[in-house]
Amino acid sequence: MTIAVFPGSFDPITRGHLDVVRRARRFADEVVVAIANNAGKATLLSIETRLELAREAVQHLSGVRVEAVPGLLVEFCRAADADLIVKGLRGGADYDAEMPMALMNRHLSGIETVFVIGDPALAHIASSLVRDVARNSGDIEDLVPPGVAPAVYRALGSARTTRE
Ligand code: PNS
Repeated sequence: MTIAVFPGSFDPITRGHLDVVRRARRFADEVVVAIANNAGKATLLSIETRLELAREAVQHLSGVRVEAVPGLLVEFCRAADADLIVKGLRGGADYDAEMPMALMNRHLSGIETVFVIGDPALAHIASSLVRDVARNSGDIEDLVPPGVAPAVYRALGSARTTRE
């Protein structure tokens, strides 16, 4: 049984993340969406909200669960008995950001990171851009799974709640 851990901030979960989860399920029996804190980023959504939105987004997928990462990702992977870490790449900038993390995680525990190339039709979708569009009252409905947009607008204190 192959267990893949898909870590990230998921602030919020996007359709791009779901694409990676689906692709990972083709080679892993179980995919654990692992919601962690990135020391370099303050999140818009609380860990509780990020967990709730991600759980709702994957509920229709078998072999997928969502967990919080309380500390180091490699410790979480060890406790989850994970075989590998999976990450999605949209382009070269992702590769540059992911490479040192993959090397550090392998240095710390020997775990390998497997990269999947996401659907190019979703390559423009990043949580940071989703937050920016929403912050400026733009429409994010097509970028995120159902139920996510209202939570993002609410967290921003926006008058907008959904598609207008
Ligand atoms: O979606 P992100 O913000 O690019 O994901 C980065 C994340 C959260 C996966 C990374 O910061 C992480 O693994 N944080 C947990 C703490 C940890 O293990 N840090 C060392 C990473 S090499």
